[in-house]
Amino acid sequence: MTLNQLKKQAAWAALDYIPPGSIVGVGTGTTIFYFIEALSTIKNLIYGTVSSSNHSTLLLKKQGIRVFNLKNFSSITNYFDSADEINNRMQMIKGGGAALTREKIIAAMAKNFICIIDKSKKVDILGNFPLPIEIIPMAISYISQEIIKIGGKPKYRKNVITDNGNIIIDVYDLCIEDPLLMEKKINSLPGVVTVGLFAERSADILLVGTPKGIKTIKKNNF
Ligand code: A5P
Repeated sequence: MTLNQLKKQAAWAALDYIPPGSIVGVGTGTTIFYFIEALSTIKNLIYGTVSSSNHSTLLLKKQGIRVFNLKNFSSITNYFDSADEINNRMQMIKGGGAALTREKIIAAMAKNFICIIDKSKKVDILGNFPLPIEIIPMAISYISQEIIKIGGKPKYRKNVITDNGNIIIDVYDLCIEDPLLMEKKINSLPGVVTVGLFAERSADILLVGTPKGIKTIKKNNF
């Protein structure tokens, strides 16, 4: 099976985690593209959605799925998103699609984070995938210098402006053995909007698409 088929399989399996009448939190990315397709088949059973990016909002509206402004809510039940990498503590690197800040906001508001991936995203140690950081443009030199001090190689992501009007740097060559500490450290640099490490707010349920079918992993079941 191709990775896209495995993403699709995981995305459709996520429908089992949608309570009728609920507000569904929707992430961003190629896996979520399949999730939105799947969600459209039960759109009359849900109340609506909140979205983590302009791109996902567009896809949701195209499918005739209601999208609400997040500012009208203080919590939601379930948030569905993928990851660029996830370790066995359910901590993730996210932001390959540049939507990390809004993703982190909705993830923080959600009772459950349901992460849907193809099997290639599971890793022992985070950091092989370059770590995205959304930053305020004027801070680029300062933040790049601080990232070099902690052993990373920062690279400006060309031609990308986030939905919040900021820029992204991707950090290569980090071996993230303590994701919680790294998340705190990078988030504390002035000019950082969000680092794409989801360690403090890790996933609760992981649905992995594999050639043998869906593997379901719940937090604390390791
Ligand atoms: C978007 O900003 C990201 O956090 C995505 O959720 C993550 O990059 C996974 O994307 P794919 O489903 O495209 O691999």
